[in-house]
Amino acid sequence: MRTLGIESSCDETAVAVLDGTGRVEVSLLASQVRAHAEYGGVVPEVASREHLRALDGLVGRALESTAGPLEAVAVTAGPGLVGALLVGIRYAAAFAWARALPLIAVDHLEGHLVSPFLSLDGAPARAIPDPVLALVASGGHSAWYAMGPGRPPERLCRTRDDAAGESFDKVAQALGLPYPGGPWMDRLARLGDDHAVDLPRPRIKDSHDFSFSGLKSAAIRHLREHRLEGVGRDDPGPALTGLVASFERAVVETLLEPLPTLVERVRPRLLTVSGGVAANSRLRRAMTAAAAELGLQALLPPLPLTTDNAAMIARAGQLGWARDERQDPRRFDARPSEKWQPPGMARAADRGGGAA
Ligand code: KG4
Ligand code: ZN
Repeated sequence: MRTLGIESSCDETAVAVLDGTGRVEVSLLASQVRAHAEYGGVVPEVASREHLRALDGLVGRALESTAGPLEAVAVTAGPGLVGALLVGIRYAAAFAWARALPLIAVDHLEGHLVSPFLSLDGAPARAIPDPVLALVASGGHSAWYAMGPGRPPERLCRTRDDAAGESFDKVAQALGLPYPGGPWMDRLARLGDDHAVDLPRPRIKDSHDFSFSGLKSAAIRHLREHRLEGVGRDDPGPALTGLVASFERAVVETLLEPLPTLVERVRPRLLTVSGGVAANSRLRRAMTAAAAELGLQALLPPLPLTTDNAAMIARAGQLGWARDERQDPRRFDARPSEKWQPPGMARAADRGGGAA
């Protein structure tokens, strides 16, 4: 089933085509980062408008590079920004309806979960062994899952507050680094002493759930006390790089803390990590080392497939199709999650009240 994938849940418009073996024939992206940068986070209305502007042109370009006729369309149904999701959904539904192609609705997180099994060097997608223990760490989510072929992923534990990427972005914002801050934090951390600042590792009682809010607040308090607020990328002295490296170490250790217990419980055949934070060099190294210590292998997505992309959506659509999932293009609405917040934007709780 040669599959067209469309992703528009947040601030990347993405289109890809995979052949029936899951080989990536083309994967294109129109990033909106510049349109949102001046606001320090993703503005929903701007996102919808930018998706509308970019999507048709990207699909046209993708179709020029495919090796044969399309046989299915897969699109992200949620979670995400409702207006942004609807641009991709209505486009995909009309496209599928007009060409009488089957349409598959994809959960964005399932997309991230299958991304480690894709390659960008012309190889078919790898088979998913059973079970896989998988970490998703992105701007909107941080959770561990057990997954296998032919069944929906089961969430084992998660963050109780901020996502890992969100905490990178917020500390970066306080330091005066450009949005999104994660990649900047990664680069600056490499220059610093990761034991320079002692930061807390908040724990949730009787649970493997984790929390980043206290850690983020401690880092922001430290940078204010040491006059690092708004210093930015122009003067990365040891005080700044030391804080960034210590913060990055704390985030990675917090994410990996439940790993040995979850391995005991799930007895996985493979470990994976996906989502934007899977681009982080320390997390990639730490995951590979932790897997080796446990006698397991860690499979990491190719770097361009860590952040939002449509190749992972097309692949998740193919696996959904194999589970008999079909979507009627005439009755297809977005499935945004109420809890989901656009990256960089304050939560109602952070602003001190209001509706969630
Ligand atoms: O998966 P993604 O593109 O979007 C969501 O689904 O949320 O993830 C974006 C997140 C942002 O918070 C970004 O700062 C973070 O991933 N990120 C990183 C790195 N590259 C992207 N965080 C840490 N280190 C990186 N190298
Ligand atoms: Zn994502």
